[in-house]
Parts: sequence; structure tokens; C-alpha cells
Amino acid sequence: MKIGVLTGGGDCPGLNAVIRAIVRKSVNKNHQVVGIKNGWKGLIDGEYEELNINNITGILHRGGTILGTSRTNPYKKEKGVEKVKESLNKLKLDALIAIGGEDTLGVAYKLIKDGIKNIVGVPKTIDNDLSATDYTFGFDTAINIVTECIDRLHTTAESHHRIMVVEVMGRHAGWIATEAGMAGGADMILIPEIPIDIKEICAAIKKRHERGRTFSIIVVAEGATFKQDDMVLQEEKKDEFGHVRLGGIGQILAEKIEKITGYETRVTVLGHIQRGGSPTAFDRILGTRFGLKAVDLVLNKKFGRMVSLTGNKIIDVPLEDAVAKLKTIDMELYEMAKEFFG
Ligand code: F6P
Repeated sequence: MKIGVLTGGGDCPGLNAVIRAIVRKSVNKNHQVVGIKNGWKGLIDGEYEELNINNITGILHRGGTILGTSRTNPYKKEKGVEKVKESLNKLKLDALIAIGGEDTLGVAYKLIKDGIKNIVGVPKTIDNDLSATDYTFGFDTAINIVTECIDRLHTTAESHHRIMVVEVMGRHAGWIATEAGMAGGADMILIPEIPIDIKEICAAIKKRHERGRTFSIIVVAEGATFKQDDMVLQEEKKDEFGHVRLGGIGQILAEKIEKITGYETRVTVLGHIQRGGSPTAFDRILGTRFGLKAVDLVLNKKFGRMVSLTGNKIIDVPLEDAVAKLKTIDMELYEMAKEFFG
């Protein structure tokens, strides 16, 4: 078989582990692999290269993706879908493995409905917001990076008796904030799923300071919003998929907290640091397992499916289930995190 593979959307650690596993398993079974450059853009522009044992060697520990990525949506480009179809015909691919998050896999699902049936999905994103899988790879690396940053902020916050607001990624789901906040011992975690009540937050911080803890670590997810209507967020810039570019809530929150409590408050926006660098062992293994399973699905012609981590097993689920709705935070987990607030 001739199998195409692409990585789309925001990069994340573990993508190369998936690519390596796909190529190793396919080549071991005498199949051919073509790497499509820069996500769906590569099929529009006709950019691809053959992948073999030699050009995937030494990539397991490397962050990012050797194939490059983009947020290009063929459905939003003139003749985009036509060009994708042309490239697929020209390449004579028997199957395509799309590695991506909600957007990339959303396109895969649409293409299947539009007649390009032989597609299999692999879930990636640091946000962990894809349904039908317990975890996406990239998330574990991101929360480990954030946890280390929170640890570092703790020591300086304590020395200076300051409040530290830490803004983390995660889009409209509070997974990174909650899990990294729990691991880092945050004193408050603010997530998109629960609008922020600024007065309540400040009262809790004051109470904590009154009992002698003269510093606080507040983790806020980039997608969090305020309950109070008068607290307007940043102006809306959009990416190629039409999603609002998030970021900036940390600064607004820090200013409000300082004004209301009178405590010195600083903000750290972790940004793309959370997506860079080497994957953790967990993400390397999860990416490897996903890649191997994706090849199984292709060889067994189980198209329209996505590999998934359910419990500790790698299974396959309908791609449709993964893109149907966003996986927001598990409230039971958030309630556990709340025990440590204040
Ligand atoms: O989806 C992954 C993610 O890192 C989000 O957490 C964040 O909102 C977004 O991508 C940032 O996108 P970009 O890299 O395009 O700035």
C-alpha cells in the first residue's frame, strides 16, 4: 500500500514519535509512506516527500514535527478541496493518516463525507480537548513544563510576598490549567468552564494572606472569561480556522487583583514554551502506540476511524465521535483541585 501521513494544526511534542512508528511499521511490512508537508497545505500546494527508515531516524526525542504543520483549512481556500483531491489522485495514495486536533480531524471527517473515504485519524494536542480519547499526546509534556514553571514561580513569589498570575494555554478547556495547577500546588485555578468572579477570587486571596500565607499562585487558562460584563477581554484576532486567538487574560486579572486586594501582583504568560522541546516518556510512548495502531487500521481498511487511548488500551473509535464536541474539563477532577484553593 501507499500510505500518506500529515501533521496539521498547532505542533506538539510527540508528533515525531507517531511519524516514526508509522514509517517503521509500514516499511517492515513492505508498504510505502509519503510525508505530506505542512498539514492540509501540502496537499493544496503539492508538497510531499517519501519517508523511509533513513529520514525518520533520530527523531523520537525531538519536539515539533519533521513534516512541518499549518492551520490551513482547504474548505476555506479557493478550490482547496479540489486541489486536495488532485494531489491524492496524483500520488495514488491508498490511505491517508491525518495527525491533528479538532480542526485537522474536522477537515478529515468532512473529506470522508465528501467522498475521500480512506482516512484514519490520530489525536494530538497539548489542550487534551478532543473527545473519544482519554488523552492526546503532547498534553503530558505541556503539563510537565507548566508544573516546572509553577515550581519556579513559587520560590520567587514566596520571597517577595507577591501574587503570581500564571497564564497557560488550553483554548476553551481547562485541562492544562487544572492538571498542571494541581501538580504545581496552585492556590487558585481559573478555567474557561467556570466564569471568573473577581470579587470571590480576591476575597479568597485575602483570607489566605490573613492566615499568614503572604504569597499566592493563581493559574488562569487563556480561554477563561469574567462573570462581570464590564470586564472586557482582548480584541478578537482569528486564526486560519476562524478560531479566536486567545491570550491576555492574565494581565487583566493581575491588574484587577492588585487593585482590589492591594497586594503586589505579577503576571507570567507561558505561551508557546508549553508546546516546545522534547516530549516526555509518556508522550513518546503514547505517540508510538497511536502510530502503530493507525497503521493497523489502514492495513485492515478500517477507515473513518481514529485511534484512541481508553483506559490503558489503544482502541479505535469513529472519527465523528472525536470531532462532534469539545472535551471540556472533568468537573470531578476540578472539584478535587478546589480542595487546595486558598
Ligand atoms: O491548540 C494548541 C494551542 O497551543 C492552544 O493552546 C493555543 O490557544 C493555540 O494553539 C495557539 O495557537 P498558535 O500557535 O497558532 O498561536
